[in-house]
Amino acid sequence: MILSIESSCDDSSLALTKINTCELLFHKKISQELAHSSYGGVVPELAARLHATALPKILEEISKYLKEIKAIAVTNEPGLSMSLLEGIMMAKALAIALNVPILPINHLKGHIYSLFIEQEERLPLGILLVSGGHTQILDAKNYDDIKILASTLDDSFGESFDKTAKMLCLGYPGGSIIEEYAKLGQKRFHFTIPMQKSKNIAFSYSGLKNQVRVAIQKLGKDISQQNMYDIAASFQDAAISHILKQCEKIFNQNTFKKFAIVGGASANQILRKKMEVLCERFGTKLYLPALKFCSDNAAMIGRAGIEAYRLKRFVSPHEIKINPKTSSN
Ligand code: KG4
Ligand code: ZN
Repeated sequence: MILSIESSCDDSSLALTKINTCELLFHKKISQELAHSSYGGVVPELAARLHATALPKILEEISKYLKEIKAIAVTNEPGLSMSLLEGIMMAKALAIALNVPILPINHLKGHIYSLFIEQEERLPLGILLVSGGHTQILDAKNYDDIKILASTLDDSFGESFDKTAKMLCLGYPGGSIIEEYAKLGQKRFHFTIPMQKSKNIAFSYSGLKNQVRVAIQKLGKDISQQNMYDIAASFQDAAISHILKQCEKIFNQNTFKKFAIVGGASANQILRKKMEVLCERFGTKLYLPALKFCSDNAAMIGRAGIEAYRLKRFVSPHEIKINPKTSSN
């Protein structure tokens, strides 16, 4: 089996996956959301300290399986360097102690393989990747051939939810909070959809964030609960409409038989439903990861690790490199 480690941001997670069958034998994650909530975003130093205690805590639960581990898959890019380092140090120590190789895994590739947990790989796929750090449309042909067709010029989709929640003093992470608030609101604020007139296929969220900031400032300190719900509903609608418009442009240029949404923000129910409708219009089949595997987790790193194992992408403990900023493979 493969032991996989994910610690690129604020989730400490370990998983055990069977190499031959892809069966997920163990998966656990300790989320740090509460610890970072009052700061309105992830504090890297705090994240690293929490990984340092959470990762060994989870490892203790699977200590009886250590002898059966054939390789260690660990996220080495992209992410917060201090957070990545915690998982990598654990991988190095275990690789030396157990005399097994390491499989360095790109976190974004991990999100793609979240679609194939306990399943066979189903590439090629067109993919919308929406996370806290990335917003991309990808053409994923196989493990090694993943092309970026479009990406964000500034903030990411998930980040724009986080920033809207922060401006409304609702804590972190903002995605699920804003989605819940939006359910209670009306689209009363007319935020313009980014890049409507542009022919380029790309994403941009900083202008929308600014529109939200101005609306909140205008309402001042006495902003009512209903106004907060309405801002959430109006913002979410504009943010998702922007995604759909860019996907529509891509669909007009490329024929995808199969398309998928991955990444933490792929949990958004409105995004899922609207993409389903768009895909149907273009005769494209839409694939979605299980809700529990949308946000960061080690099960997806283990599933990508199986592919890396089959391709013999082994490195020794002194060879593994951390690339905090790498955005693709
Ligand atoms: O993939 P992920 O867990 O971590 C990164 O790799 O960044 O994605 C986290 C991001 C956060 O920005 C979070 O606010 C966003 O995904 N997110 C959502 C939802 N759930 C999580 N965004 C919109 N709607 C949601 N329901
Ligand atoms: Zn992620």
